[in-house]
Amino acid sequence: MIVTEKACAKLNISLDITGKRPDGYHDMAMVMQTVSLCDTLTVTETDGTAVTARTNLSYIPSDSRNLAVKAAQLYLQKAELGERGLELRLDKKIPVGAGMAGGSADAAAVLRALNRLYEQRLDREQLLELAAAVGSDVPFCLTGGTVLATGRGEQLQPLPPMPDCRYVICKPSFSISTPELFAKIDRTRLRRHPDTAGLVAAVEQGDLPGISRRMYNVFEDVNERKFRTVRELKSRLLDAGALGTVMTGTGSALFGIFTPETDIGSIAAELGRHCSFACGAENVPQLL
Ligand code: C5P
Repeated sequence: MIVTEKACAKLNISLDITGKRPDGYHDMAMVMQTVSLCDTLTVTETDGTAVTARTNLSYIPSDSRNLAVKAAQLYLQKAELGERGLELRLDKKIPVGAGMAGGSADAAAVLRALNRLYEQRLDREQLLELAAAVGSDVPFCLTGGTVLATGRGEQLQPLPPMPDCRYVICKPSFSISTPELFAKIDRTRLRRHPDTAGLVAAVEQGDLPGISRRMYNVFEDVNERKFRTVRELKSRLLDAGALGTVMTGTGSALFGIFTPETDIGSIAAELGRHCSFACGAENVPQLL
């Protein structure tokens, strides 16, 4: 049998760090949105007993260092399916090291795809538990939609869908290591925090200008010389008519929010001349 599944990228409309936890992780408060930029996963059952991954990017590991493989192995274990041969083919479009949860989205897509392949053996709660074991962003990538995520990022409070809007996403040529940026932020005195409650209220009211005014990510405060490019690209997005801009996750990608009538294709094409990746995207509703 062969099944295919989309693995959608996430954007952080906001990102706050509210504390450091005894387990070394950070407590977060993040408004997140699933968008149409996606990788495509194809799962094929094979005669063997191993789970392997193949992607269009040569530097992505094919063994359990790849979150998609890890998710499949955990699924087979939890669903008591024994050792099975699975080939995970990933056609990657989400930039790597960008803060858009590409690896987590792939792992979440594996969990949804395998649960279809094996006739819904696990319920939603069990899938969420597996997702949290794979990584902090995987539970959100599993359910998708518009969510306030707290805790490590795995506590999900669904919000009403974002009002209709468009995004232009772009990524400077450098990538960011998530653990390194978390370590750096521990040594940084944060000057500002996002107004998460105000942002949630604006989402609940479908108030796009109110949302756009409250987009903020505390990681932008880290004194990274490289982030100068992020600021330059934000200015370009604002010049092109963005209502608001923010870096997503630990970066280096950032995005602008636009009204639904905007010709985001031409803005992305123009921006692509100044960075290594640019695309237009729209909201994707809840996935699970
Ligand atoms: O959970 P995940 O493996 O995706 O996290 C990757 C790294 O990001 C962790 O090792 C940790 O350094 C950092 N992290 C954190 N607090 C979070 C989520 C991630 O410190 N809430």
